[in-house]
Amino acid sequence: MKFKLIYTFFALIAAALLLTNNSSGPAAVQNLDRTGSPLSPGPCQVCHNNGAFSPTLTLEVLDNGAAVAAYEPGRTYTLRVQANATGNPAGYGFQAVALTGDDDLQAGVFSNPAQGIQITPLNGRQYAEHSMRRTSNIFEVDWTAPEAGTGEVRFYSAVVAANGNGTSTADGSAFLTSPVALAEGPASSAEENELFEAFTIFPNPVAARLNLRFQSRETGEYQLRIVNLQGQSLLERRIEVAAGEQVQGLEVSALPAGIYTVQLTDGRRVSSRKVIKH
Ligand code: HEC
Repeated sequence: MKFKLIYTFFALIAAALLLTNNSSGPAAVQNLDRTGSPLSPGPCQVCHNNGAFSPTLTLEVLDNGAAVAAYEPGRTYTLRVQANATGNPAGYGFQAVALTGDDDLQAGVFSNPAQGIQITPLNGRQYAEHSMRRTSNIFEVDWTAPEAGTGEVRFYSAVVAANGNGTSTADGSAFLTSPVALAEGPASSAEENELFEAFTIFPNPVAARLNLRFQSRETGEYQLRIVNLQGQSLLERRIEVAAGEQVQGLEVSALPAGIYTVQLTDGRRVSSRKVIKH
């Protein structure tokens, strides 16, 4: 009885937190792009418009800490959005999206969000945004560049410096009036970039058992991961790989239907493929 009461108590608190948590990102709460991109009905300052804290926004795509102007197809970078503000904001929020082409399609894949950041799917695109008001003014998430032939990628973003009063009043915000554009650079040799050669997965779409076929240059231990569109790893397994051609099977029937990324990694380099689960 006592346990039941305690459980109910915590369940109620959790529900209350969920319900009041409008301070989460606008893709999650409003189902809207608030970056100021062509898909956005208006950036954060539609609401957070009091011009307090005069924030400015910088957005960089970093490769080992150095900002790049062009991306290498398939390579993983760190996207960093920084809000610099005057005064003493209680915390910060942000949203960012990477788009390409005339139809503003999603460009590349976000994953591995830092704490207090989430990746929210919206209209077939991923949005990186805060999941709560953050004390840090720096937002980081991994971004894996799209495949060769994608062309220019445009990053849109907006930030809020908030006073912590739990409303959108007397906050300040900023957005990129023109996107940060990255040109497509040359792909490096498969040797450097891809962990495994000739990596294929089948069947795709898959219902139960997924097979991974690849060539390994060396014997070793690797991590096999299945990652959802939110960048969360739903399935992880260590695998031993001998040199030469490999086929590894993976039972995926427990996964909910959807689109996933299958990753093979040695912790440094990643080979990944998209898979559809029925
Ligand atoms: C349609 C209006 C609206 C838009 C657009 C909007 N917000 Fe908000 N936001 C609110 C309201 C209302 C609150 C306060 C209520 C709450 O926290 O539930 C809030 C709260 C916040 C807070 C917490 C503020 C505090 O003082 O505790 C942050 C941070 C935040 N928003 C960031 C953003 C960012 C970043 C964007 C744009 C990417 C954005 N918001 C776009 C309405 C909006």
